[in-house]
Amino acid sequence: DRTIKIAPSILSADFANFGAEIQAIEAQGADWVHIDVMDGHFVPNLTFGPPAVKAFRPHVKTVMDVHLMIAPVDPYIQAYADAGADVLTAHIEAGPHSHRTLQAIRAAGMKAGIALNPGTPAEAVEHLLDLTDLICVMTVNPGFGGQKFIDMTSKIRRLRQMIGDRPVHIEIDGGVDPNTAPLVAAAGADVLVAGSAVFKGGSVDQPGVYGDNIRAV
Ligand code: DX5
Ligand code: ZN
Repeated sequence: DRTIKIAPSILSADFANFGAEIQAIEAQGADWVHIDVMDGHFVPNLTFGPPAVKAFRPHVKTVMDVHLMIAPVDPYIQAYADAGADVLTAHIEAGPHSHRTLQAIRAAGMKAGIALNPGTPAEAVEHLLDLTDLICVMTVNPGFGGQKFIDMTSKIRRLRQMIGDRPVHIEIDGGVDPNTAPLVAAAGADVLVAGSAVFKGGSVDQPGVYGDNIRAV
């Protein structure tokens, strides 16, 4: 179904309070929870790995959407399955064998996502559509929250056309806020990741702020 889902990225949450932060965003209306895994190699920033993701699992009642910004990917797929990821997304730029990677993610029992950096064309995933449950269109260069939105609406439209009637989500990641969300939704996106726009001005001690931010997006 193509109803719009909001997936707050805990990259902008309080790192010392992940459990409470996840519970707060879900209680206040998050549809999915987006988890950014960075390796300090594929992207110039480092976050956390499988043991932390496993610790988040009991707090996530909705969908745990894990975005891997790591290379290589394949040696870690089973660890993220064991950690309880529902959706596991790898970057197409992370290695030459995305086709194999997507098959391995599904074989491990997860939904398989493929992410495209801003410089990567829609056509790069043309032969992967039947292996894919989600295409993540990056609207910033990955690595950090709070960056300026890069307009990828023509890529989103092209992907929606290529996908046709396949049940594939288009997720947008980077710079999503109340101004940019309507543009990407109109172009065909249905999962909107939002980090800074959801967590700004709030904390787990201030009930309601996250929910107001989610509804604003
Ligand atoms: C960027 C991450 C995003 C990030 C988005 O590398 O993949 O998920 O948290 O943050 P905002 O919404 O602040 O651009
Ligand atoms: Zn992300």
